[in-house]
Amino acid sequence: MIFQRINNIFPGKRVMALGTFLTIAIGCSNNKGPNNSLTHDLTKMVCPMTPENHGKNLNNTKKSKMKIHCFVLLLFFATWESVEAKDVCVEGFVMDKYCIDLGVLLDNRAVRTLENPEKHSVHCLVDVNLCLNTEFNILLPNPSGSPAFALALRLDGAGKQMAIDKARVSGICRSCAGGGTIEHGFRGTFIGSIAEEATSSKPALMAVKRMEVSPKAFNQSSLDDGCAGFDRMNLTLITDVAGFEKPSIAHGSLMIIGWGFLLPTGVASARLLKHRPNALWFKIHRIVQVLGLIVAVCGWGVALHNFDVFSGPGTTSYSHGVLGMTVMVLGLLQPFNALIRPHPPEAGEKKALARLIWEIVHKSSGYIAVVLAAVTICFGTFVICCHNTEFRAAWIVTLAWVLCFSIYCAFDGYKYRKQTANMSASYKKKEDMS
Ligand code: HEM
Ligand code: HEM
Repeated sequence: MIFQRINNIFPGKRVMALGTFLTIAIGCSNNKGPNNSLTHDLTKMVCPMTPENHGKNLNNTKKSKMKIHCFVLLLFFATWESVEAKDVCVEGFVMDKYCIDLGVLLDNRAVRTLENPEKHSVHCLVDVNLCLNTEFNILLPNPSGSPAFALALRLDGAGKQMAIDKARVSGICRSCAGGGTIEHGFRGTFIGSIAEEATSSKPALMAVKRMEVSPKAFNQSSLDDGCAGFDRMNLTLITDVAGFEKPSIAHGSLMIIGWGFLLPTGVASARLLKHRPNALWFKIHRIVQVLGLIVAVCGWGVALHNFDVFSGPGTTSYSHGVLGMTVMVLGLLQPFNALIRPHPPEAGEKKALARLIWEIVHKSSGYIAVVLAAVTICFGTFVICCHNTEFRAAWIVTLAWVLCFSIYCAFDGYKYRKQTANMSASYKKKEDMS
C-alpha cells in the first residue's frame, strides 16, 4: 500500500530502490531486525551499531561503514533503472470537462452528455474553444447499470494533446486534417501510469505515454479495445457529477425573478402610474427597481462564479453571456445616474436642459436594458441544461404578468383621466351656471 502510494508520487523505476533503502534504514534505526529475515542480514551487514557489530575495533567499523555505503549506493542505482512502474491501459470515450459540467452536449442540447457520449461531435471536442480549453476525461460505462457513463480518468497535458492530434487526423471537424471518418463519439486507448489517485469528486490523473484511436471509435460493436497485452486498471469511477446543474437553476431562477418580473414591473409603474397621487409610481419604481437589481446581482454572481462562456465565441452561450453582461452594466448604472438626477420642473416651469438629458439617458438605457434582458432570458432557456420547458413556462408567466399589470395601469390611467375630465366639465358647468 505504502509502495503503491510512493509509486504514484515517483512513477517509474525508483520504487524498489526506495523500498530497499527504507528497509535498511528502518533496520539500522531499530538496531535489531527480525533474526531470520533478509532485513536482519542486510542490517547486520550495513549497520555498524547493531549488537553483533558492537565491540569490533574502530578500524574495522570504518572499513565496513565504507563498504556499506558503497553497497547501499550500488543497490540503489541498480534497482533504480531495473524496476519499471506498471503501465496500464484504459479505453473509453474522450469527453471535455465543459460538456460534462454543462450536463448536455454544447452543440446538441437535447442530448445528456453522460448518457449518450457517442453523440458528442469531434467538432465540439476540438474546434470549440469552450470545450478545447478544459480538461479531457475518459468515460467508462457505469458498473451499476445506470444509463449514465462514469468519469474514469483525467488526462494529463500530454495525453490531452495526443487525443486532440489523433482526433484531428481521424475525425471530421473544422480543424481536422481531412480524410478522417469519425464524426461523433471519439474514443481513445490510453497507455500510461497513474500520476494522481482519484478523490471522491475527481477521477485519477493519467500520465499518458501512448495513445491510439480506439478500434471502437471506428466500429462501436468491435470487441477489440486496443489494450491487448496491457494491464487493464481497476479504476475508481466517479458517478455523481454535480456539474453546472444547480448553479444554472439558481442563476436562471434569480434572473427570471429579477429581470423578468421585478424590473419590468417597476418600469411599467414609472411609465403608466404617473396619474396616481402622492407620486405612487415613484415609490413603486424606486423600491421595485432596487429589489430587482439586488436579485439580478445575486444571479450574476452565481453565473460569474460558476460558468465560463467567454473563452469560446460563436456559441449561443457566448451570445447569452455577452448580452447578459451588457444588460447588467446598463441596469447597474441606472440607480447611480438616478442619484445625480436634476430636479423636475415645478408646475408652469420650463424643463431644464440637464433634466431633459438625464431623462433621455435614464429612460433610453432603462428600456434598452429591459428589452435586451428579454432576449437574454430567451437565450438562457436554450442554453440551460435542464428544465428548459419549466423555465420557458416561468418566462411566459412573468411576461403575462407584466402585460396584465401594464394593461391594468393603462386602464386605471384612462379611468382617472376620464373622471378628471368629467369632474372638470361639471365644475365648469357649475361655474357657468353661477
Ligand atoms: C437577463 C437575465 C440574464 C442575465 C443578465 C444573464 C447573464 C449571464 C452571464 C453574464 C453568463 C455568463 C457568465 C460567465 O460565463 O462568466 C450567463 C451564463 C448562463 N446563463 Fe444567464 N443570464 C440571464 C438569464 C438566464 C436565464 C433566464 C437562464 C436560464 C433559464 C440562464 C442560464 C444561463 C446558463 C445555463 C449559463 C451558462 C451557459 C454555459 O455555460 O453554456 N441565464 N448568464
Ligand atoms: C433605484 C433607482 C432608480 C431611480 C431613483 C429611478 C428614478 C426614475 C425617475 C425619477 C424616472 C422618471 C423620469 C421622468 O419621467 O421624469 C424614472 C423613469 C424610468 N426609469 Fe428609473 N430609476 C431607478 C432605477 C431604474 C432601473 C434599474 C431601471 C431599469 C433597468 C429604470 C428604468 C426606467 C425607465 C425605463 C423609465 C422611464 C419610464 C417612462 O417612460 O416614463 N429605472 N426612473
